[in-house]
Amino acid sequence: MKSIAVLPGDGIGPEVVDAALPVIEKLGLPLDFRFGDIGWECWRSGGDPVPEQTWQLLSETDTCLLGAITSKPLREAEDELADGLRGTGLRFVSPVVQLRQRLGLYANVRPVADLDHGRFDFVVIRENTEGLYAGLDFHGLDPALWEAVRTHPNAAASGAADTSVTLRLQTRFGIDRLLRFGFEYARSHGYRLLTLVDKPNVLRNSSHHLRERLELMATEYPEIETEILNVDAVALWMVRRPERFGVLVAENMFGDILSDLGAGVMGGLGLASSGNIGDQGSYFEPVHGSAPGMAGQGRANPVATLLTVAQLLNHLDLPVPAGQLREAVATVVRARRTVTYDLGGTATTRQAADAVAHELGATTAHFEEQR
Ligand code: NAI
Ligand code: MG
Repeated sequence: MKSIAVLPGDGIGPEVVDAALPVIEKLGLPLDFRFGDIGWECWRSGGDPVPEQTWQLLSETDTCLLGAITSKPLREAEDELADGLRGTGLRFVSPVVQLRQRLGLYANVRPVADLDHGRFDFVVIRENTEGLYAGLDFHGLDPALWEAVRTHPNAAASGAADTSVTLRLQTRFGIDRLLRFGFEYARSHGYRLLTLVDKPNVLRNSSHHLRERLELMATEYPEIETEILNVDAVALWMVRRPERFGVLVAENMFGDILSDLGAGVMGGLGLASSGNIGDQGSYFEPVHGSAPGMAGQGRANPVATLLTVAQLLNHLDLPVPAGQLREAVATVVRARRTVTYDLGGTATTRQAADAVAHELGATTAHFEEQR
């Protein structure tokens, strides 16, 4: 029996998770769901958006399904704290950042598939811990950093105090585990092409570093073709020829941008799923946030969460029910009869999810008959 921590979170998070759970029940799997708290209310009342009981729950479960989370800027975060916590120096740290860092979740996996016509089916794997978002971001430079940039004419014209620098951190440790993950993902999901997204003509030395590590590891995966493409070209082709891609691997910022582009290519945030995976832990969440303007209205599309569940089931080594769930979702989306507003329909969150459950009932019955 596998156990799953369920953290509905804020805004539309609880609605889409509530709608998804009965659909999962239909699959009749030996899964133990254990609920926990995360998000804005935890911050307001307890001063930490990820309470200690939730860390405990995560340590006791095999993986986690997260709904969505609200984050607000510094001043609002402070103002909304409960009496007694305000002014005590507490700092809000985004729960998703906390999860990724504390659980060591270095691979952010975002599948992009054409549910309507099956014309494309690829995945963006974004590095989550280093690259341009490593946090080495400086405004006003100390002498060591200044030494590195002072000969640039623009820096010379501005001075150390009026120059800012962000470092793109790439380590052999970080590169190798990401590439390994990418190759293994390609192998286990039947992809034949792995594209490394970079900018080799401009970032010449760091790109060369990546290329050397890629070429070395590629020898272990002879059945998988590899290529290195410029990030801007990938952006164009993702829109024009999405069918050419299989597994895309990218550093943190390139991957961040391309995975949102991927959500757009697929048809919007209502459809985009993701997993954050490390060597020990993992959690899965729809790409969208808590959409506070829509919360409580039952209008949110549950498809992103349902596809997230399919991704989670795959991760738990349950590829057959994962495939059944994906197929049922695709059938409902394709028919466009019981879909939410963002797909041109009028269905509520619950109705759209029920349609998937109904479809699943039909497929599993058919499946039983054939046995
Ligand atoms: P958002 O993703 O919550 O919503 C943006 C827009 O996308 C919505 O106004 C809505 O039109 C559409 N949308 C999102 N989910 C949808 C769904 N399931 N069905 C139909 N339409 C959907 O992003 P926004 O408004 O920038 O952020 C709102 C809050 O969510 C913020 O506090 C932000 O920090 C947080 N956030 C959390 C994320 C997470 O939990 N990982 C990711 C992104 C934002
Ligand atoms: Mg993003």
